[in-house]
Amino acid sequence: MNVRTGFVFFSILILILTALIHLIWEPIKWTLIFTIPLILIGFYDLTQKSQTILRNYPVLGHIRYLLEAIRPEIMQYFVETDTQGRPINRMFRSLIYQRAKDVTDTVPFGTQMDVYRSGYEWMDHSMYAIDQVQVDSSPRIRIGNKHCTQPYSASLLNVSAMSYGSLSKNAVLALNKGAKIGGFALNTGEGSISPFHLEFKGDLIWQIGTGYFGCRTNEGDFCPDSFEEKAAIDSVKMIEIKVSQGAKPGHGGILPASKNTPEIAAIRGVDPYIDVHSPPSHSVFSNPTQLIEFISLLRERSHGKPVGFKLCIGKKQEFVDICKAMLSSGITPDFITIDGGEGGTGAAPVEFSNSLGVPLRDGLAFAYDTLVGYGLKNEIKLIASGKIFTGFHIARALALGADMVNCARAMMMAIGCIQALECNANTCPVGVATQNKSLISGLDVNDKSTRVANFHRKTLKSFTELIAASGLSSPDQLRRQHINRRLGMNLIKRYDEIFPYSKENSLL
Ligand SMILES: Cc1cc2nc3c(=O)[nH]c(=O)nc-3n(C[C@H](O)[C@H](O)[C@H](O)COP(=O)(O)O)c2cc1C
Repeated sequence: MNVRTGFVFFSILILILTALIHLIWEPIKWTLIFTIPLILIGFYDLTQKSQTILRNYPVLGHIRYLLEAIRPEIMQYFVETDTQGRPINRMFRSLIYQRAKDVTDTVPFGTQMDVYRSGYEWMDHSMYAIDQVQVDSSPRIRIGNKHCTQPYSASLLNVSAMSYGSLSKNAVLALNKGAKIGGFALNTGEGSISPFHLEFKGDLIWQIGTGYFGCRTNEGDFCPDSFEEKAAIDSVKMIEIKVSQGAKPGHGGILPASKNTPEIAAIRGVDPYIDVHSPPSHSVFSNPTQLIEFISLLRERSHGKPVGFKLCIGKKQEFVDICKAMLSSGITPDFITIDGGEGGTGAAPVEFSNSLGVPLRDGLAFAYDTLVGYGLKNEIKLIASGKIFTGFHIARALALGADMVNCARAMMMAIGCIQALECNANTCPVGVATQNKSLISGLDVNDKSTRVANFHRKTLKSFTELIAASGLSSPDQLRRQHINRRLGMNLIKRYDEIFPYSKENSLL
């Protein structure tokens, strides 16, 4: 019995017991003054669709809102601080929820951040700001170089990789439907393409990790034939090889036998109820040339769909070596996704999450400069991910060299994540990162898909407004010199001073 059927059962039981006791002890009827309103509140909680926590925990769920009103939780996802050095956790968290719910997202009274704190960043506006209607509020980026025959016109903002398995069925459905409504793409994560990714026909980026889920042989090796079959699915617009992710670069994973249900096993192409390992690195390639050959194979077998790879920058020479392999082979990926060391995950060792991997801004600037230095940037689009959830974050990533961005955790919040930090425990109270059927059923797919589309639209709108305020008419006019960073009370540097541009072909 789940919490909700339990509540209905419990309510009926209380009413019957009260009626029976009333026969022998009349004063019991006065307890109904408390119990009937609580039961009515509970039934309202069960039937409303916008608050998953109340659907999953009728009546009791209100305690969370009460406690939050007294003292909001401090969440490490948000890094900006106020004048007292406290994280402005509440403002940013509210911002994501407000944009997702399509309610007022302005703040009263003015600046809340400590603008004299070392690390404070801002963008230059112009005296000649232009009207935002002159800026395209949903610009598209064409991904696909000369090797690609099915280029994809992508949104500037997309949903970053998160597998079905780490996310629930309803979470994937809501993200997929939101992507369809808003005209953006959802990355499947390495857990393969589930039926829930296909239900609403939203655009997909199919990610292939070291476990080759959905395109593997019984021995766990890459299977080109099953890859070809799935890559032909119309919703699959691009293919992404996952080399590493910022939250746990170089760390494999294990799908425990207990979670490897027949449904998940069928989606991933493995036997059910056995431990399934994702190795820390790929078996198909162990040097840059083999990676390039793999990209070429995937492009051929997907009949020309854009192919790229995702990594968190680690040893820089390894990235340089990939560029050299591109030059010597003449084969380039269509895109590279740079994930910051500050990235998210469902579960990772704390050392991997906090102390491994180059942070996004450093990794992105390095990747851009290296590609420019080798004369390769024109062929390859750069995608950035890592704590990007406001218009300014998008502007900063684009100024550094990204062509577009992905976001994962903000999208989770758009579908109701309250950062209960239980993704690794199967007890996510809002049904986002769990496989518990009772908790999942509280997440209303229609309501949350609208929120995903709202969050996407309003975040891009805020980005457009910033661009217009800077006097720029298009995102691709953003440069590093538009962003400033305070390094001390009397020391301010522009991004082009912190991350000097490399010259085209300078590394050849
Ligand atoms: C629950 C969860 C599951 C994830 N699963 C994957 C995955 O399967 N493959 C991958 O490359 N990254 C995965 N990521 C990382 C995200 O795609 C993204 O790169 C990272 O969280 C940084 O973006 P963010 O700061 O917007 O969350 C996952 C992240 C989360 C929170």
